[in-house]
Amino acid sequence: MKLEASLFLSYAVAALASRCKPHIPPSPIGTFPPHVIYDPPAGQRASYPRHVELKDGTLLITSSIIGGDFFNNKNSSFPVFESKDGGVHWKWISNITDQVNGWGMSAQPALLELQKPLGGFKAGTILFSGNSWSNNGTRIDLYASTDKARTWQFVSHVAEGGRPNTTNGATPIWEPFLLDYNDELIVYYSDQRDPKHGQKLAHQRSKDLRTWGPVVSDVAYDEYIARPGMTVVAKIETINKWILVHEFPVGNSSSYGVNYPVYYRIAEDPTKFDSAPGIPIVIDGKLAPNASPYVVWSPAGGPNGTIVVSDADRSEIYTNRFGGDPKKWEMHAIEQPAAYSRALHIFRRDPKKLMVLGGATFDEGGPDELSLSVLDLIELLKTRIYPA
Ligand SMILES: *[C@@H]1O[C@H](CO)[C@@H](O)[C@H](O)[C@H]1NC(C)=O
Ligand SMILES: *[C@@H]1O[C@H](CO)[C@@H](O)[C@H](O)[C@H]1NC(C)=O
Ligand SMILES: *[C@@H]1O[C@H](CO)[C@@H](O)[C@H](O)[C@H]1NC(C)=O
Ligand SMILES: *[C@@H]1O[C@H](CO)[C@@H](O)[C@H](O)[C@H]1NC(C)=O
Ligand SMILES: *[C@@H]1O[C@H](CO)[C@@H](O)[C@H](O)[C@H]1NC(C)=O
Ligand SMILES: *[C@@H]1O[C@H](CO)[C@@H](O)[C@H](O)[C@H]1NC(C)=O
Repeated sequence: MKLEASLFLSYAVAALASRCKPHIPPSPIGTFPPHVIYDPPAGQRASYPRHVELKDGTLLITSSIIGGDFFNNKNSSFPVFESKDGGVHWKWISNITDQVNGWGMSAQPALLELQKPLGGFKAGTILFSGNSWSNNGTRIDLYASTDKARTWQFVSHVAEGGRPNTTNGATPIWEPFLLDYNDELIVYYSDQRDPKHGQKLAHQRSKDLRTWGPVVSDVAYDEYIARPGMTVVAKIETINKWILVHEFPVGNSSSYGVNYPVYYRIAEDPTKFDSAPGIPIVIDGKLAPNASPYVVWSPAGGPNGTIVVSDADRSEIYTNRFGGDPKKWEMHAIEQPAAYSRALHIFRRDPKKLMVLGGATFDEGGPDELSLSVLDLIELLKTRIYPA
């Protein structure tokens, strides 16, 4: 109740302010503080949210819902919510369910809208991937919706691994991320199947969304116990390059006080991250983000635009206005609470606006609801807390 009232107030103020400045065309995207959009029933936690902004400006959000037996719940599914007003109001529109395995749609969603026809699907088709798992295996599956996320159809199994088990030596797969590139769909994921690596990051590509090319490594370290995980990729348009962020635990080792430091690679081709050097994000020579990173790029903020990164441990976000120069990371305070695998979004219609989308923390005891805020990136860049 309180949140809604303060949201209403901030809108009333924004509306008033825009009436006082008639010569500045109003942005279609408003800014607002953290706002709960879905509070799951007791005993359930909304975790690892993902989103897509459709060409018409509609926003869709989904997340995994954790409750009961996380690794063996054939009833698990992903609720999908829709907003037509830049993230202010939301309504539930569908559940994405496992239609083929009998395992449930367990965790780790990814969404994408096709910008061009692909695999017999028209532009505007929404693609979804997630990890369907049970005690019998992990499957990264692809689904499509041709009616704006009202209904979903199974398209193909992208990859399959052993049962969910994060111990090195087990063979599951995790955490898909979707990218359309050069008339192909790329599905990035974390892969424990290669006996040379506790875990590595890899991708597979498809031109028809049904048959998948070979497993290509993106990040694989010689040290067996290294477990690079949780790929997210964004394009840095000004330098025509791609950035991949990932977490990088190596046994129990710690750097700058964290065990899951966030690393990135920059490559000219998003299928060739393997040969790019891995760089840790370190702010001011002393602070490091930790775990489940997300990355987006905005053309706003300077000649190279702004790379924005989020992690699991801090509410704050990290920016780089110098094309990923390792010495140029900054940290900025925002109101959105820390959460496991938050998502970031730069609005197509207004790339100065940054959405931060959060759910539950990794461990129980933190928030368990889906919430989001929208910030003005230019205002945010004026205030930083590191470097001081
Ligand atoms: C799945 O749903 C069915 C039908 O509602 C219910 O009987 C069963 O207990 C549920 N199973 C789990 C693991 O939640
Ligand atoms: C969607 O999923 C929720 C949570 O599992 C469930 O309560 C609801 O009945 C589902 N709705 C439909 C239409 O399947
Ligand atoms: C796992 O596989 C076994 C053996 O084929 C089968 O009996 C069982 O029903 C399967 N369980 C699930 C959840 O798929
Ligand atoms: C997890 O994988 C490890 C390594 O293969 C294995 O020793 C352990 O038994 C597995 N645990 C389960 C619950 O399958
Ligand atoms: C990390 O530390 C724990 C507790 O000391 C130990 O059981 C585990 O084997 C260590 N893991 C690795 C990969 O070194
Ligand atoms: C933009 O980024 C590129 C690549 O890091 C760098 O060479 C160039 O100096 C940057 N320009 C500015 C103005 O930051």
